Amino acid sequence: MNRFSITLALAACSAFCCAATEPSVTPIPMRVEMSAEDAGFTIDSLTRVYIDAPDRDAALLEEQLAAAGMGHALRVCDSVDAPRINFRLKPVVDGISSHEGYRLSVSGDRIDAEALSPAGLYYALQTILDLKESGGTIPAMSITDQPRLPYRGMMLDVSRHFRDKEFVKKQMDAMARLKLNRLHLHLTDAAGWRIEIKKYPKLTELAAWRPQKTWKEWTDNGARYCNEGDTAACGGYFTQDDIRELLDYAAKRHITIIPEIEMPSHSEEVLAAYPELSCSHGEHGSSDFCVGNEATFEFVEGVLDEVMELFPSQVIHIGGDEASKQAWKTCELCQKRMADEGLMDVDELQSYMIHRVEKYLNAHGRDLLGWDEIMEGGLAPNAAVMSWRGTEGGLRAARDGHRVIMTPGGYCYLDSYQDAPWSQPEAFGGYLPIEKVYSFDPVPDSLPEDAKPLIIGLQGNLWCEYIPTAEHAEYMLWPRMIAIAEAAWSPQQRRDWDGFKGRAMAVSDRMRKAGYTPFDMRNEVGNRKEALVEADHLARGCKVTYLLPDSGLPAWHNGYPASKEATLTDGKRGGWNYNDMLWQGYMNTGTRERLDVVIDLGRVCDLSSISADFMQICIPDVWMPEQVTISVSDDNKKFKTLADIHHTVTTDTGVSFKNFGWKGSARGRYIRYRAMAKQGFLFTDEIVVE
Ligand code: ACM
Ligand code: ZN
Repeated sequence: MNRFSITLALAACSAFCCAATEPSVTPIPMRVEMSAEDAGFTIDSLTRVYIDAPDRDAALLEEQLAAAGMGHALRVCDSVDAPRINFRLKPVVDGISSHEGYRLSVSGDRIDAEALSPAGLYYALQTILDLKESGGTIPAMSITDQPRLPYRGMMLDVSRHFRDKEFVKKQMDAMARLKLNRLHLHLTDAAGWRIEIKKYPKLTELAAWRPQKTWKEWTDNGARYCNEGDTAACGGYFTQDDIRELLDYAAKRHITIIPEIEMPSHSEEVLAAYPELSCSHGEHGSSDFCVGNEATFEFVEGVLDEVMELFPSQVIHIGGDEASKQAWKTCELCQKRMADEGLMDVDELQSYMIHRVEKYLNAHGRDLLGWDEIMEGGLAPNAAVMSWRGTEGGLRAARDGHRVIMTPGGYCYLDSYQDAPWSQPEAFGGYLPIEKVYSFDPVPDSLPEDAKPLIIGLQGNLWCEYIPTAEHAEYMLWPRMIAIAEAAWSPQQRRDWDGFKGRAMAVSDRMRKAGYTPFDMRNEVGNRKEALVEADHLARGCKVTYLLPDSGLPAWHNGYPASKEATLTDGKRGGWNYNDMLWQGYMNTGTRERLDVVIDLGRVCDLSSISADFMQICIPDVWMPEQVTISVSDDNKKFKTLADIHHTVTTDTGVSFKNFGWKGSARGRYIRYRAMAKQGFLFTDEIVVE
C-alpha cells in the first residue's frame, strides 16, 4: 500500500466539468466531474485535518487517516487559522445521489470533503491521496464524484491454491485505493475446502489438504486428499477467527466480503469427506451432491448457518455452475425426488435445489447469488445472477427483473494470458490484455432503460488452477483489476483508453514500490502480429465450400463459427486465442476429419504458396493437425495433390502456432485444403494463397 509522509499540499478552485482545465493528476478511477484552475494548495506540516461526523464514523476515519500517514495532522476542533482539510458528513450533498459519492473542493487554504456516508468520505480520502501522489502543489479544483455501479468486485479463488489472510488483506488494501468494494472469496471447490465449519470438521481435517503443492501435480496424481498434520500435507483454510479478522479489515475499507459455497457441483472435496452425500455414496471423484438425499440439505443448511453467522454480506454465493448432473439420471434417490416433485429433467432437479436453498437464505434475511447456470430450469425468484458465460444470460436475467453482476469470461477472467503466451507464465489459456478488460461496457445501451439499474455490478475473477504462488496471483490481478475498477466506477463517456493507460502505469508503479508484483505494461508485447493487419492474397474474398457437412458433420463447431463461410478467405487473422471470433473451430467426435474445404479462385491462376496456421493449447483440448493435404484442380473434379504433410503431435504445455503449407509452382482454379486431427479441437483462421 501506498503510504506517504505528511507534507501534503493541496490547492483550490471552484468546479464543474471542463476537460480543457482538467488537472494533470493520475486519478483512478476517473472522476465523474472535475475541473481545475491554476492556483494551488500545498499540504505541509501545518495542515490540519478536521472531521465533522458522529463519533463512531469520525473514529474510523481517524484510523484510516492514520493508516494513510495523515494521523499527526488530526485535530478534532481548534481555532487555529491554519491550512485545513475538512471531512464532513451531510444529509444532502449537491450533485450526489449515491451513499458512496462525495464532493471535494480544493482552494488556496483548504480542502472540503463532503459525503452522505462514511464510505463517501473514505472515497474522498482516496482521491486526496491520488492528488497528493501526483506530487507538488495540487491545483485548485472541485470534484463531484460517485460510482456508476454499486457492486465493484474482485473474485479470488483460494481453493485451487490456498492464499493466507495476509495476502487477502494486502489485496484489499489495493482494492480500497481503487474504490473496489466487493471481495468474492471462492472458498470451496474440488481442490480444497477453505473455511472452518464447526459442525463438519472433516471439511478442514481432510478436504483442505493434499499431498501435492500445486493444483497441476495434484490433478496429475489422481486428485487425492490427505489429513491435516500429515508430513506431506499442503493447503490450508481460514479458521472462523481468521474470517472475523478479514471481515473487520474489510469493513474498515468499506469492502463487503461475499463467501461462495459451491453446490450442487464442484464439490469433490466435500464428497471425499462425507461420501454419503454423493449419489454413489463413496466413489472417489464425484462432483455433484445427491439432490435426492435429505442429508444433502441438512449439510448445506448446517454450513450456511455458520457462514451467515460469520459474514454480514446480504448476498451469499452458492456457486451453481457446471454441474455434470450425470449421476442424478440413474440415482434412485434423485429419480424419486424428480417423480415426487414433478420435475421433468435434471435441469429442473438443479433448479429445485437452488430454489430450496434460496428459500432457506431468504428465511434468514439473505439473498442468493449464483453463476448464470442457476437460470437453467427456472431462476429462483429473488436470486441475483453472476453472468460469466458471456453477457447474454445476465442481460436476460436483468430484462426479467433480476439483479446482475457482469463478469463475462471474455473480458473479466484474469486467469487468461495478459500478453503473448510465449512471453508469459503458463496460464489457463485465452488472451485478455488490459485494453480488452478496459473496453468492456457492463451496461450496454441496447438494454431497456428500466433494466439498466438491475446491472448492479462488474467483477474481475481470478481462478487459480495455474497460479501456484502469491506473486503470480498479484501479477495476474494487477493492473487488470485497475481496469475493472475504472469500468465499474466511471461513467462510460469518461472512459478513455489512452488516458487510462498512463494512469494505470502510474498506479502499477506505486503498487510495485509498495511491494506488489504487477505485470509490467511497459514491456507488453501485444497481440499476434498477423492479427494486426489484414492479409491480402489471391484467395481473399473467394468462395469457400465446406465438404464435411455432406457427411452429416457440422462444418464448424457451434461455439466457434468466426465469420462462418467467409472466415477462411476474409483476410482477417486471429490473435493469441481461439475465442476472438477470428479463429474457426472444428470438432468432430469419432473421426479424424476436421476441416475439408474447396476454395474457388474464380479463374485458373499461377500458384506459389498455399498455407494455413493452426494453434495448439492442450489445456482446453486444442491441438495441431496430424495430417494436412493440399490439392489443386482446374475443374473441381480431378484434384492433383501438392502436399501431404504428416505432423507428430506432442503434448507441449503452453500455446504454440504452426503453419501447414505448400510452396512451389502450380496452376489451378480450385484449391482443396484438408486437415485431420487425432483428438480434440482444431482451429485455423485463414487459408492464404499466393
Ligand atoms: C465458472 O467459471 N465456472 C463460474
Ligand atoms: Zn442422487
